[in-house]
Amino acid sequence: MLSKKMQSALNEQINRELFSAYLYLSMSAHFQTVNLPGFAHWMKKQYEEETGHALKIYHYIFERSGKVELEAIDKPQANFKSPLDVMKQVLEHEKKVTASIHTLYELAVKENDYPTQVMLQWFITEQVEEEKSVTEIVETLKMVGEAAPALIMLDRQLGARS
Ligand code: FEO
Repeated sequence: MLSKKMQSALNEQINRELFSAYLYLSMSAHFQTVNLPGFAHWMKKQYEEETGHALKIYHYIFERSGKVELEAIDKPQANFKSPLDVMKQVLEHEKKVTASIHTLYELAVKENDYPTQVMLQWFITEQVEEEKSVTEIVETLKMVGEAAPALIMLDRQLGARS
């Protein structure tokens, strides 16, 4: 059985993951509008992953006979500047998510909640991967600049994400 404190912290994380999904879908819509379909595709994949993260915690709460309580999801930003600006925002956002996962893990340790620690280890590894892939895109954008030919090539590359 989950403690009330752990259950409430996990429910808050579901909300954070769903907000991430919503933010990335908003970014995907932005890229679609400015004719960068590859970037739009990449962000939509990111949206799908975040929804998966939320559901992973959702199912875990039930596995531990807990109660899922969904909260309202904040409105995400709708207007963005350049692709570099968007990807930098994604990186900053992911760093915040990483910090929240680490805080959850610290709570699980404090409460001697071993199953939650094991579940969260998947998220700790996932966050390393997420930060790495976004950092690579930010660095590429910084390197190639945002002139049309380079951007089109990167757009094609991002569009190939499966
Ligand atoms: Fe669910 Fe991108 O962290």
